[in-house]
Amino acid sequence: MVTCRGSAARRGAALAQLEVLSGDPAVLLEGDRISWVGSRKDAPRPAGSTVEVRGVLFPGFVDCHTHGIFGAPRLDDHERRALGEDYKAIAAAGGGILQSVRDVRARPEDQLAALARARLTTLLWHGSTTIEVKSGYGLATDAELKQLRALQRAARDVPATLVPTFLGAHEVPPEYRNRRAEYVRLVCEEMLPAVAGERLARACDVFCEPGVFDVAEARTILTAARRLGLDCKLHADELEGSGGAELAAELGARSADHLAAVSPAGIAALAASDTVAVVLPATMTFLGRPRQAPARRLIEAGAALALATDFNPGSSPTISLPLVMALGVSQLGLRHAEAVLAVTVNAAAALGLADRGQIAAGFRGDLVALGVSDWREAAYWMGANLVTDVWTAGSACPSPSRRVSLGFHVEA
Ligand code: NIG
Ligand code: FE
Repeated sequence: MVTCRGSAARRGAALAQLEVLSGDPAVLLEGDRISWVGSRKDAPRPAGSTVEVRGVLFPGFVDCHTHGIFGAPRLDDHERRALGEDYKAIAAAGGGILQSVRDVRARPEDQLAALARARLTTLLWHGSTTIEVKSGYGLATDAELKQLRALQRAARDVPATLVPTFLGAHEVPPEYRNRRAEYVRLVCEEMLPAVAGERLARACDVFCEPGVFDVAEARTILTAARRLGLDCKLHADELEGSGGAELAAELGARSADHLAAVSPAGIAALAASDTVAVVLPATMTFLGRPRQAPARRLIEAGAALALATDFNPGSSPTISLPLVMALGVSQLGLRHAEAVLAVTVNAAAALGLADRGQIAAGFRGDLVALGVSDWREAAYWMGANLVTDVWTAGSACPSPSRRVSLGFHVEA
């Protein structure tokens, strides 16, 4: 049993210190919580049933960065990149995020909810018991609200915790192309109050990137979000550096995400702050870009590092945090222990959730069992799904029907 017990956000050498109980460990679940952890011979007699797990038990994984509510896949973008076009050129030619925006605007809410239900259930059955999901394919008040309401509907049927984030500033929509200041005003004065009023999101994110939203615009939007009681997150220094990491640290954001082009000053700013550095190696791999985020330098500087899938149709169509952990080891130079803590304790910190990410008394009863004999296999069998059992809030999750797990098919 990998407990991940210890302090809330791990930095430096502590990120490699993972508690693993071998021998005959046991965990007791009562209500939605873990009430006891230890050696089975010392366990209090359980009031209810007992389950034997053959394999390794982990705290449920936390996927702290996804864009998991969208319509069709973007296969043409994928092929154009293979032919040598890059992400920004494809976007400028009408593909990219705006293609998903046209799709989401046209798709009814119940279809979006059904797609999210099927896809997020698949993430759950790859071990993610808490999943952050961003809007950002609406870019108009009604379409952003539609995405977040669809997510709220999906959340009633998916036994994972879905944590909604408002990302109205994911791109400037075409109708505001020459009036960007007006779009920023719309986000601040109309979208954010509507989202906060309906309690549709816990946090606000901005894609802060040269050519998308600059640091000043991101500051304006996140400051407005903070005033409405939302947490802040930031897509920072993904493709080109622009001071996004520094801004995230300055604003006390929960996380600064991507960071492939973060500067030395950005690394220092994150290390000196409580902002979690969320690194997304599947994205750079899928985009075929040679530069990954400097994860080792972030850890050595003292930043709290987390990993996530970035699940989305454009730059990272993966549903598997274990795959991302394997990429973390192979592409970022993480140790297996660091990869595990980056998808549990530190990913929970990136969402501001203090009650999960560890198998410890008082924590939420979110557990995942992998059919392996060495815990390091969690970050090793690239692309295999090793999950055998999942518990959320103290209850076993019913295994999904085959039909549900094939729910990726959509009419374009
Ligand atoms: O995190 N960078 C911006 N947003 C996403 C991509 C979304 C898309 O291409 O649809 C990302 O990589
Ligand atoms: Fe993203």
